Amino acid sequence: MDNKPFELANPATGVKSLLPVRAGTIGPQVLDISGLPKDHGVFTFDPAFGATASCESKITYIDGDAGVLLYRGYPVDQLAAHSSFMEVAYLLIYGNLPSAKELDTYRGSITRHTMINESLLRFTNGFHHNAHPMAMVSAVVASMSAFYYDSMDIHDPRHREIFSHRIIAKLPTIAAAAHKHALGQPFIYPRNDLAYCANMLNMFFAVPCEPYEVDPVAAQALDLLFILHADHEQNASTSTVRLAGSTGTNPYAAISAGVSALWGPAHGGANEAVLDMLEEIGSAANIPKFLDMAKDKSSHFKLMGFGHRVYKNFDPRAKIIREMCHKVLAKLGQTDNPLFELALRLEEIALKDEYFVSRKLYPNVDFYSGIIYSALKIPRSMYTVMFAIARTVGWVAHWLEMISDPAMRIGRPRQLYTGPTQRDYVAVAKR
Ligand code: SDX
Repeated sequence: MDNKPFELANPATGVKSLLPVRAGTIGPQVLDISGLPKDHGVFTFDPAFGATASCESKITYIDGDAGVLLYRGYPVDQLAAHSSFMEVAYLLIYGNLPSAKELDTYRGSITRHTMINESLLRFTNGFHHNAHPMAMVSAVVASMSAFYYDSMDIHDPRHREIFSHRIIAKLPTIAAAAHKHALGQPFIYPRNDLAYCANMLNMFFAVPCEPYEVDPVAAQALDLLFILHADHEQNASTSTVRLAGSTGTNPYAAISAGVSALWGPAHGGANEAVLDMLEEIGSAANIPKFLDMAKDKSSHFKLMGFGHRVYKNFDPRAKIIREMCHKVLAKLGQTDNPLFELALRLEEIALKDEYFVSRKLYPNVDFYSGIIYSALKIPRSMYTVMFAIARTVGWVAHWLEMISDPAMRIGRPRQLYTGPTQRDYVAVAKR
């Protein structure tokens, strides 16, 4: 790759200087503008960070034009076909695929950290019964810092590792506690004889009065969805975790900020919104009306589960989940799923529409995932929580990468000020 420096002249002095150009291992080159304020007295203006690489990272790579997604170099479709969520978690956090022994030890540690303090359970039960589970999860995760203050030294590698195991292990338990609270059912304790996703399903659906068998098809489907949601480089919630974490705040506070950012309908909240939208559309005959609404900027309606900041081609995860829908629905005996049929038809019509074609708007990860969650009988308000459980792995990997970098500084963007210039205070009686 050609790393020719980029020439820039200072308009005030005419002095020319060279901006360094940096190249990653793959992907486009990046202009290093960090010296601009000092050398030229200017800042760059990039609202919503459309043109800004906010950090250097070795975790995940996306080629949005080619529809490629790599975790630590491994294509996500290969991981989806052959790996497991626990193995992917290890890969993202530690950087390499584990040996059999390493994986066993890692699984064992995650399994042994699944219980939560009984006070956290009482805290969960204090919420109103119809509180949205994302509100409960973000609050309970933030409150974990009140329980583990003796192991939150962000400069201690062992403390960081204990945090990373605790948060990944306990998130399903916290989610299940929120679910049981909403239902008014007793909390079901984690079972160490079950794998990560099977244990989560058991905590969600078992009741104390009768035996419950986890359906292996459901556990496998969830594991696959979790692999696909585990990381996506500097998306809004991960960037939130990094920015919050850069202040030196404790990691539970940073992850809680990430959960809150994920909740928005433009981000992880879209999986819940897609199913609401499909139900509202109701039948294929209404699709053109809703597409017209999505094209009308004054309507504030967007086709949920469509479009992406980085993908200008198929989101590879959406393709995999669409195929998964066919297989999982067949295995669960739910081939006649009207919402899936409607989603397929919507995709087909939108991808022939000039508006979506010219803007390169394709289905994203959130478009089909809700179909699977609903087939697994996971309540709709829990869909974004499912995303949060899987993405916690990515958040942790990015937080660890940032915190262990000796050059880490607090994140602090600047602004283009357009408010009033200096003016003098006028006493209230004279206004
Ligand atoms: C996730 O970033 C990540 O990596 C996120 C994620 C992850 O794994 O972390 O992939 C997960 O958040 C997926 C996205 C889920 N959100 C949705 O499905 C909500 C619907 N989509 C959009 O709101 C939108 O596409 C975004 C938020 C996903 C992307 O927003 P951008 O990059 O700011 O795109 P844009 O708004 O600039 O869109 C460009 C054009 C605009 O039209 P014009 O002004 O050029 O005429 O496309 C239009 C937009 O209005 N557009 C849509 C649309 N998405 C974009 N029009 C109708 N329906 C849509 N869904």
